[in-house]
Amino acid sequence: MKIDQKINHLPLSKSNPKSLTDLFGHKNVVPMWVADMEFEVAKPIQEALIDRISNSGFGYEYKPDSFLNAQKRWYKNAYNLQLESEHIIYSPSITTSISLIIENTTNKGDGVIIMPPVFMEFRDVIRKTNRKIIKNPLKLENQHYTVDLQDLENKAKLETNRVLILCNPHNPVGRVWRENELKSIINICKKHNVLIISDEIHKDIILFDNAFTSLLHYAEVWQNIVICTSEAKTFNLPGISDSMIIVPDETHRESFKKITRKYNLGATNVLTRVALETAYTMDGTWLKDLIQTIETNVNCIEKELVDSRINLIKPEGTYQVWLDFRDIFEDSKDMFQYITKNSKIGLNAGHWFGREGALFMRMNIASSNEKVLSAIKKVKAAANFI
Ligand SMILES: Cc1ncc(COP(=O)(O)O)c(C=O)c1O
Repeated sequence: MKIDQKINHLPLSKSNPKSLTDLFGHKNVVPMWVADMEFEVAKPIQEALIDRISNSGFGYEYKPDSFLNAQKRWYKNAYNLQLESEHIIYSPSITTSISLIIENTTNKGDGVIIMPPVFMEFRDVIRKTNRKIIKNPLKLENQHYTVDLQDLENKAKLETNRVLILCNPHNPVGRVWRENELKSIINICKKHNVLIISDEIHKDIILFDNAFTSLLHYAEVWQNIVICTSEAKTFNLPGISDSMIIVPDETHRESFKKITRKYNLGATNVLTRVALETAYTMDGTWLKDLIQTIETNVNCIEKELVDSRINLIKPEGTYQVWLDFRDIFEDSKDMFQYITKNSKIGLNAGHWFGREGALFMRMNIASSNEKVLSAIKKVKAAANFI
């Protein structure tokens, strides 16, 4: 994969000197925290965007059949799913979608279940919508995370907890939930009438021999399932991508449509439309190369850490690795400060994903093998001083 040489000149969030200083105490850290990639966007997408810009004509657009058909073909080929155009609601971002769904399906003060350590925005969205964060922490045994089903059932059976946000693949721990795990989660939610919002933004980055199963496969088993997804991660388009809410159930769909109409959220962005339609029609080589590159980076990190006290939680999906520092530190903030100061690598502290992530750190490995290897060596050297 080719590294994008131009990104150093762009005002990317991850390199914002103010954010770096606020978070890491110094603007000169190597930013490996925000989840976007350093690889060049696929050539066909770049060319289609250049072509579209040179054609001018930036009036209001709709999503033509060519776009919808490309999207459907993508879902059919990648996931063996028959996507119905009428089931899709477009929204500017997944975080927006989750806020809207929570506001539309629960009341102030109600509980929303999450599985920490997990993408921090879930927590923020629940707080900002004045709902209650209900934690169903993941279990960690022998370096392997699983869902605590008994605890989930205990939380789901409370009348006030009506929504679960599932993250599949799970950011930051990298699990890709297996069919039997998904079925158990669905059985519990069905039994206690809990709506599942399945955030599947990382669905295309599946590593090694793992397989992704969308919750959409179970829409006939449990009608209270809503999928939130986008191609932002897959094709490195988070700056221009919008997102989809896939809602097989008609009652939910009509109700979510009403709210997106109320805030006028489903508009078509001309450039997003072109980028996505092109991405959906590409032959898969770019994505295959990407996955191979990420796998190589994971393998190198695993090898590098063999003789260290940092343990790698090997990811099944996503382009992040979750590093376990529990054998070295006792306090998560000390760990974060010490590793940052001595390695000059800007990683996410695990406790940003909830206190269940304390003594872990997340590293974005969507970069060159050289850069990833150099970063892990610096982190390892910093940890070895302790
Ligand atoms: C699980 C998950 N959901 C959602 C997002 C962000 O999506 P959006 O920018 O569309 O809100 C991220 C970004 O890292 C993520 O990891």
